Amino acid sequence: TVPVPTAQGDSTTGSTLIHGISELVTNDPAMGEGLLGLIPDAAVIIDGDRIAWVGSAATAPAADTVVDLEGRAVLPGWVDSHSHVVFAGDRAAEFSARLAGAPYSAAGIGVTVEATRAAPQEQLVDQARSLVAEMVAGGTTCIETKTGYGLDVRTEVRIAQAAGQAGVDEVTFLGAHAVPAEFDIDVDGYLDLVCGPMLDAVRPYVGWIDVFCEIGAFDEARARRVLAAGQRHGLGLRVHGNQLGQGPGVSLAVDLGAASVDHCTYLEPADIDALAGSQTVATLLPICDLSTRQPVARGRDLVDAGVSIALATNCNPGSSYSSSMSLAVGLGVLQSRLTPAEAIHAATAGGARALRRTDVGVVMVGARADLHALNAPAHDYVAYRIGTPLTNAVWRRGQRVV
Ligand code: NIG
Repeated sequence: TVPVPTAQGDSTTGSTLIHGISELVTNDPAMGEGLLGLIPDAAVIIDGDRIAWVGSAATAPAADTVVDLEGRAVLPGWVDSHSHVVFAGDRAAEFSARLAGAPYSAAGIGVTVEATRAAPQEQLVDQARSLVAEMVAGGTTCIETKTGYGLDVRTEVRIAQAAGQAGVDEVTFLGAHAVPAEFDIDVDGYLDLVCGPMLDAVRPYVGWIDVFCEIGAFDEARARRVLAAGQRHGLGLRVHGNQLGQGPGVSLAVDLGAASVDHCTYLEPADIDALAGSQTVATLLPICDLSTRQPVARGRDLVDAGVSIALATNCNPGSSYSSSMSLAVGLGVLQSRLTPAEAIHAATAGGARALRRTDVGVVMVGARADLHALNAPAHDYVAYRIGTPLTNAVWRRGQRVV
């Protein structure tokens, strides 16, 4: 397993001035230029777990400790708003079968469910920790992850607990990910469990509820039932929709005011119109689309229509086994035709919006001190040097972890 990064100490006590920043992405248009609020020759001061000062290096006040980044670009840490990092087992054979022509199907979820149910808790936590460490090592500082590989009360609770223990920021209940084998074709019987005892049991460990609304998973009426149950328990709403074909996921998410609808690979004009007039973020998962040989998500059309978008990894063992937000950004640019600025924004402020958070995805006074320094002078190198690890330093909650 990959070791969990530990703090390197230079911001644990007192304030830290970080300078030598060639270009700072603040995502605050009031602070700098354009969508990203770019500040050239910038400095940031961290105090505790918060950002205490942001501006031009020439006007920076003193601090207890000084870090010189020697001309590197700094971004807010990536906000990965869609992942499934708590699981056991391996689905490399399914990946190979796909390469030989088999289509991706939700049936593979059952393979992970079987392995996850059988895994000891310590193994689940270790596995998730190692993926969280991988994410952080690549500049991700805020992580959402989902349950959904247990599909029984005991294992769904264990997954939700493991996510918290592994250092995930936001945990989503996805009991309605698939119908487990023991319910066979009794979908409604399974949803009685999901919306009743399972939801009651996981509630202390989760802030969100999600449902896989797709042909082969849950239809609109059933998805509505799941989301309504979550809403009654005070959970925020998220939807997996329009991943494998056109369907009701997007319109349902918009109708219920979900924070995000994720995948959005197959969109009709009415879906784009609905998203454009809504508070629901369209979360694009381009690594998943590539790995499952789906069409390229229509990032350009969505942004042109005025839709708020996020980019995320969808890190999971079946459809998208990558923790790289940089790759998601690169594909967002090169395949979905976003500009580098739009893609960086979607992977930081966009992810934060999909999680309804204002304290991450930005470099602003009072925000969480989550910073990502690149071995590059400007933000557009993330796509320009696609596939190249560019992470030079990472601060998460004010702690230097890379
Ligand atoms: O977001 N769509 C459903 N869930 C996951 C994949 C789950 C799996 O194949 O294990 C996704 O792609």
